[in-house]
Amino acid sequence: MIVTLTPNTSLDQTVMIPTFELNRTIRATKSLYGMAGKPTDASWVLAELGLPSLALGFAAGAIGQKVENMLRSRQIKTDFVQVDGESRVNMVIICEDGSGQTTITTSSLEVHPAQIEALLAKYEAALDDASCVVMGGTLPKGVSPDFYADAISRARARNIPVIFDAGEPNLSAGLAAKPSFIKPNQDELSGLVGVPVSDMATAYTAGKQILDTYGTCPIMTFGGKGALAVLPERAYHIPPLKINVVSAAGAGDAVLAGLAASIERGQPIEEGLRLGIAAASAVCLMPGTADCRKEDVEAFLPQIELIPYG
Ligand SMILES: Nc1ncnc2c1ncn2[C@@H]1O[C@H](COP(=O)(O)OP(=O)(O)OP(=O)(O)O)[C@@H](O)[C@H]1O
Ligand SMILES: [Mg+2]
Repeated sequence: MIVTLTPNTSLDQTVMIPTFELNRTIRATKSLYGMAGKPTDASWVLAELGLPSLALGFAAGAIGQKVENMLRSRQIKTDFVQVDGESRVNMVIICEDGSGQTTITTSSLEVHPAQIEALLAKYEAALDDASCVVMGGTLPKGVSPDFYADAISRARARNIPVIFDAGEPNLSAGLAAKPSFIKPNQDELSGLVGVPVSDMATAYTAGKQILDTYGTCPIMTFGGKGALAVLPERAYHIPPLKINVVSAAGAGDAVLAGLAASIERGQPIEEGLRLGIAAASAVCLMPGTADCRKEDVEAFLPQIELIPYG
């Protein structure tokens, strides 16, 4: 079973607007709720691909309940620790004039030490039956970045692969515990290395250093510029597909799902990269975060190229 661990559960509200303007009321042409939180997004995509998963994390209030209901409606198993505050709602604003999209995130969960212990106990039990773990995202108030180091170490001590996706300061904290994979986007990679990473050659150098230092394979994604995967003794540039992007929110999380799927199926990680990028491309076609259609993923799969790099 694939286990996903989301400390900061949340819901995305996607609104489509004709154009963005300050100091006026903007009427949305479309509004929809979607899954959010990187690992729960991966569960969402895995379900579309027909793979079951167990979603763990902290949840609170009516939003937390809605997240749980949405996951269960797709036969995703859930076992959340109920905490104080409210699971977050993020606003994804998409401008139909083609100028771009913006996400405004919030933070409203509050976690106490006993609740961290409760989540770690559920997580340890889930590891008994885990093929791999997907974890990451921001952390709620009351949870320090060490949480990720602890959770990653617990899985790695049992030789269970971990796919970790977070920004700073959580990315460095988790990386120290040597996850199997990280999936930084351009901003997250730049934050990690401390300088803007704006070209493939710089990303490759940074990726090699991460692999050599931690034994962690970086799968670096650059939105419309594609992806670069650095694996032991090989690396691949994966060009983007030419697609009409409706919303890229959750595209990176589909890559996490693809990697997890290949581990669960005992396939080479190259299969996971292909599936992940195909699923990410399919997510880009849909307005809802991490929403994709299996038929789009299957249509894109043969088009994904892994071009040896370096
Ligand atoms: N504009 C685009 N055109 C084509 N492919 C895209 C585009 N945006 C994203 N993708 C595909 O999705 C993959 C992941 O996207 P991206 O780098 O934006 O992830 P991300 O920033 O982690 O996203 P999120 O955190 O919202 O899930 C890319 O490597 C690419 O294959
Ligand atoms: Mg991402």
